[in-house]
Amino acid sequence: MTDHDIQLKVDNLKTYFRTEAGLIKAVDGVSFSIRRGETLGVVGESGCGKSVTALSIMQLIRKPRGKIVDGTITYYRKDGQAINLTRLDPQSPQMRRIRGGEIAMIFQEPMTALNPVYTVGQQIIEAIRLNQNLSKKQARAHAIDMLAKVGISVPERRIDQYPWQFSGGMRQRAMIAMALSCDPEFLIADEPTTALDVTIEAQILSLLKDLQRDMGLSIMIITHDLGVIAEMASRVVVMYTGKIVENATTDDIFYNPKHPYTVGLLNSIPKIGLKERLYSIKGSVPNMLALPKGCYFAPRCPQTMDICHRQPPGEYQVGPAHFVRCWLYESAGKEVAQA
Ligand SMILES: Nc1ncnc2c1ncn2[C@@H]1O[C@H](COP(=O)(O)OP(=O)(O)OP(=O)(O)O)[C@@H](O)[C@H]1O
Ligand code: SF4
Ligand SMILES: [Mg+2]
Repeated sequence: MTDHDIQLKVDNLKTYFRTEAGLIKAVDGVSFSIRRGETLGVVGESGCGKSVTALSIMQLIRKPRGKIVDGTITYYRKDGQAINLTRLDPQSPQMRRIRGGEIAMIFQEPMTALNPVYTVGQQIIEAIRLNQNLSKKQARAHAIDMLAKVGISVPERRIDQYPWQFSGGMRQRAMIAMALSCDPEFLIADEPTTALDVTIEAQILSLLKDLQRDMGLSIMIITHDLGVIAEMASRVVVMYTGKIVENATTDDIFYNPKHPYTVGLLNSIPKIGLKERLYSIKGSVPNMLALPKGCYFAPRCPQTMDICHRQPPGEYQVGPAHFVRCWLYESAGKEVAQA
């Protein structure tokens, strides 16, 4: 992979939160990259650091409680210019232009991302005018186009309505319209379909795929749902307690999973027509303030060994583009040097 193919490279990212109860290492040494035009899926149970990874890329971690304490996030422009986002002041004009203009995000909570006191149109128009030199009239016309593009009917009337006048599916479409209105190169979609029923979910996912094809977007899609991953992603990173435990092609994740956590997630997918009780990974995600000493997954792992309780595992390469953080692969894989 040459640097020219890469859209974004995250290297040893560490984002911590200082709380009254102690330090939460929400993202703890995460590395991955996304190629131009590719869809990377990020999957894992609640609280494993998916959103914090996304917010770190967007430079939206709130200080002083939260802070990127280490690592680099390199964004590659089309002309090959590489920008380390962690070096930019989050409030600087350059970062503001990148955020929204070049990297856009669909937030996990549409009602918090859309302000209830402004019309949908006012919000999209503001986003457009922040990044593009258009008159109010031109921006409004563009906003109507975007609403039409994401499948909102009678957009010239809908544009003047408030978010609460939209159904859940329509709000999600409006969020996508707002995110894509500035013609970004890279889109982060954080659980874009969680609150929706399956029919609307399928529509939104197919809309994202169409927009990706038309606009040549790179997408990072965050979800706890492996069905969404199968539908959308060509590569997947599996996160657990702030770390990536497996990084592989979508085919490898589904047909050749290595990490016991990934295997557990796959076994937890509901199977149509099965009557017996569904498998789920035993136990729950550990308290981030009281993580086990060795492998964080050890208390839940069906394959745990002595060493797992004593030392955290390194990351091993088990295939051309397949990496796994687990002691089981110590002899089979090649250890990846840590940054
Ligand atoms: N502002 C904050 N202050 C303190 N802790 C935080 C803050 N934001 C996130 N965290 C903690 O960081 C960890 C990772 O949170 P994150 O929101 O990234 O999880 P997630 O994988 O997106 O989960 P979900 O699937 O529920 O959205 C959690 O333990 C969470 O409690
Ligand atoms: S390192 Fe050990 S406890 Fe952790 S996932 Fe691998 S086998 Fe299980
Ligand atoms: Mg989240």
